[in-house]
Amino acid sequence: MDTTESLTIRPFRADDHAAVIALWRACGLVVPHNDPDADLDRAAGRPNSDVLVGVTPDGRVAASVMVGHDGHRGWLYYVAAEARGRGHGRAMVAAGEEWLRVRKIPKAQLMIRETNTPVRDFYAGLGWNAVPRIVMERWL
Ligand SMILES: CC(C)(COP(=O)(O)OP(=O)(O)OC[C@H]1O[C@@H](n2cnc3c(N)ncnc32)[C@H](O)[C@@H]1OP(=O)(O)O)[C@@H](O)C(=O)NCCC(=O)NCCS
Repeated sequence: MDTTESLTIRPFRADDHAAVIALWRACGLVVPHNDPDADLDRAAGRPNSDVLVGVTPDGRVAASVMVGHDGHRGWLYYVAAEARGRGHGRAMVAAGEEWLRVRKIPKAQLMIRETNTPVRDFYAGLGWNAVPRIVMERWL
């Protein structure tokens, strides 16, 4: 467990469910083609993935990161901070990176929606590089 600027970061627990979904909605991370409940259930507490939450001293879920790896690369999703500019986003990204480091995953990646490009500067400030790749997808 890690504490930063009055935020305690710990793995998701079942009783966080509603608060995490509300946070994701408030932060504009829920889109019609993703079911956030299913996303949460699939990732939280799994051998290769988890959802980390940042909790305020009064017990409120105020930040999150979904982190996981596919055996090769690590991925971050659902990076969210309810209150902006308090270092919470930075702390969640660092917690996700550490989760991967502990599992000996050498590189972390994340995707930014085209509609959310301003957030690119946030990641760049944390030492992340934008790389020229084409992401291909297929719904299964
Ligand atoms: C992106 C987000 C997580 C940042 O959280 P935050 O708690 O406000 O960020 P922090 O306070 O940790 O900021 C860390 C640094 O990034 C900078 N920063 C934060 N948001 C930024 C932005 N949108 N653009 C540029 N820089 C930004 C801060 O100024 C700070 O810089 P400093 O250390 O030099 O002062 C938050 O704005 C958020 O939840 N956004 C909505 C959800 C989202 O878009 N998530 C990303 C999905 S890819």
